[in-house]
Amino acid sequence: MLTDKVCLVTGAASGMGRATALEMSRQGARAVVVSDVNDDAGRAVAQEVTDLGAEGVYVHCDVSRSNEVRALMAAVDERYGVLDVLHNNAGIVDAQLTTARTVYDIDEELWDRIFDVNVKGSWLCIKHATTLLTKSAGGVIVNCASISSFVHFDAESAYVASKSAILGLTRSAAVDLAPFGVRCVAYAPGTIDTPMNDRIWKQAPDEAAMRRALTATHLVPRLGRPEDIAKFVCFLASDDAAFITGSVHIIDGGALAWRGTAA
Ligand code: NAI
Repeated sequence: MLTDKVCLVTGAASGMGRATALEMSRQGARAVVVSDVNDDAGRAVAQEVTDLGAEGVYVHCDVSRSNEVRALMAAVDERYGVLDVLHNNAGIVDAQLTTARTVYDIDEELWDRIFDVNVKGSWLCIKHATTLLTKSAGGVIVNCASISSFVHFDAESAYVASKSAILGLTRSAAVDLAPFGVRCVAYAPGTIDTPMNDRIWKQAPDEAAMRRALTATHLVPRLGRPEDIAKFVCFLASDDAAFITGSVHIIDGGALAWRGTAA
């Protein structure tokens, strides 16, 4: 449970971020700050948070921009004076932006954008939330990694490298913030059925075949759901996980456990 906690979720207008913001509210959070670049969808999620019991507040923030991250944390400070849970969820994949994505033909601009959002964005949020997190009785940072932190995914070289970097960032933040009683953990989702993937799968020649092929890599015979991840993030953020820090936790339906497919 997250009773009375003040939580912040980046990229919370969609997918797993949205599901986590809603679950935080269900689990008794006092407030959930919903942050994103998609203002209309973000405001709608903040309203859903409020409808579920916590105070839902929307604040626009592109996590790759330090001035916007500073403004986001200033807004949290002004309203609550503390932050108990920072969920670094915002992220983008190569496939959203281009089609040329091997390590040798990916262009520098794309590489930088992926790293700016996925890695620098998470670091900026940690940097500028630290003071607020140290004011909590048990501040927690939950970083979104991926199974691509461990294995390559075709045509996603920048994404794969960026999600690997999240593991190092998690360890460094866990060590540096431990003296202040702040934990930092990462989780690594497998293939989750979210709007991000839906947009990509719709571009495939046969979307249904693509979904079947991805499902076949799982020991649990389905795709992951945003709600699977939301409950896991809330556990990692809760006092029940007080002995967990500096580590990464895989939630992938068994995909990394074998090299087979069920097809
Ligand atoms: P999604 O695309 O449904 O949601 C991502 C949200 O992040 C969107 O609302 C988007 O507007 C926001 N966003 C994008 N750029 C942003 C920026 N610069 N600043 C702030 N917000 C920004 O994606 P999904 O699938 O829910 O992904 C959430 C996280 O999970 C990402 O970090 C992604 O890399 C990671 N992930 C996703 C997996 C999947 O199978 N869907 C698997 C493993 C990790």
